[in-house]
Amino acid sequence: MSSATASRKVLTDRINRIEVSATMAITAEALKLKAQGIDLADFGAGEPHFSTPQHIKDAAIEAINSNFTRYTAVAGIPQVRQAIVDRHASDFKTNYTPEECVFSAGGKLAIFNAAEVLIDHGDEVIIPTPFWVSYKDIVEFVGGKCVFVETSEADNFRVTKEMIEAAITPKTKAIILNFPSNPSGAILPKEDLFDIIRLCHERGIYALLDECYVYLAFDGDIYSGASLTECKEHIIVLGSLSKTYAMTGWRAGFALGPKQIIGAMSKLQSQSTSNTSSIVQRASIAALASSQECVAVMREDYIKLRDRVLEGFKTIPGLTCTVPQGAFYVYPNIKNFLGKGGINTASEMAAKLLSEAHIVTVPGEPFGTKEHIRLSYAVSADVIDKGIERLRTFLGNLK
Ligand SMILES: Cc1ncc(COP(=O)(O)O)c(C=O)c1O
Repeated sequence: MSSATASRKVLTDRINRIEVSATMAITAEALKLKAQGIDLADFGAGEPHFSTPQHIKDAAIEAINSNFTRYTAVAGIPQVRQAIVDRHASDFKTNYTPEECVFSAGGKLAIFNAAEVLIDHGDEVIIPTPFWVSYKDIVEFVGGKCVFVETSEADNFRVTKEMIEAAITPKTKAIILNFPSNPSGAILPKEDLFDIIRLCHERGIYALLDECYVYLAFDGDIYSGASLTECKEHIIVLGSLSKTYAMTGWRAGFALGPKQIIGAMSKLQSQSTSNTSSIVQRASIAALASSQECVAVMREDYIKLRDRVLEGFKTIPGLTCTVPQGAFYVYPNIKNFLGKGGINTASEMAAKLLSEAHIVTVPGEPFGTKEHIRLSYAVSADVIDKGIERLRTFLGNLK
């Protein structure tokens, strides 16, 4: 090897700025234990335990059988973009056109593409804590700087216009909001959400609204920040079919926003994935354009599962938890157990829960808080009961 080759570094600075997604890392660890035949109570993965509804699967099979298997327009066929904007218009009274919509291989890619086209080196992005793990890495990968705004658990992780206003600087380019929240399940009251979006609009800041759990809000009122159509110029909706229709493996997501931004995201996509699978596009039309009864059925089940977990937590002295109002996560506070049994951090707690109690959880640190663990309750009632039993025994024995 010549000395010139030896001194040339292999990996870019930007790939070294980010970590493997914490949730994917824990899933990999859990898979190893499962492969050894260990029976896990698995609350790790953030995905529905339901099967994809049959009419969606049928549409995909029909697409294959009718040879709808070629490249399509990069941003998605007109019919899938029409189905997305129609669904959004009917549910949230928005007025997007198909040209203001790009269909991507998952909501995560839509977020990534939005960050790529909007965030330049040194731009600041405001992110309330706790936050979904990928925001930090995506923003840092594209060269932006995260400005975290701490919220209070006592106030149900609420973020207000005043809190955001205090974090704005001349370098602020965007804010990322995610309600219902992964990891806490919290929802921002509509007026708070609208106040923040109005503030963004006034200041020329882009509101990136990650609404991937928008249909999994439990208290009746399902709303999107994009309903504030007068602020449309600064709103980008980042949506996903993954959780709404139990389609995580299909990779179906989208963005709605100003034509210039959507056009740039499509241009970027034209040089990376090109179109999302043609088959998935057809299946997505079936999901979006037919009865939404399946979504309501799944939502009802999540509410029951949430209540079951919270009832279980009540039987564990020292464990406290806010009541999630959506998504399918609980984010209990474990501070009363830190310092016991050689466990000093949430990461150590998650590691011990996995290795000793065979419970899969995700520690709070990658979500930006130090005293929590996240459990996904998109599992069967049996898994919840088994997991609670193990958690009670493990935490009860900590000294
Ligand atoms: C808050 C949030 N946003 C976006 C996504 C991305 O979902 P997908 O890429 O499966 O559409 C997830 C997935 O876990 C999520 O929890």
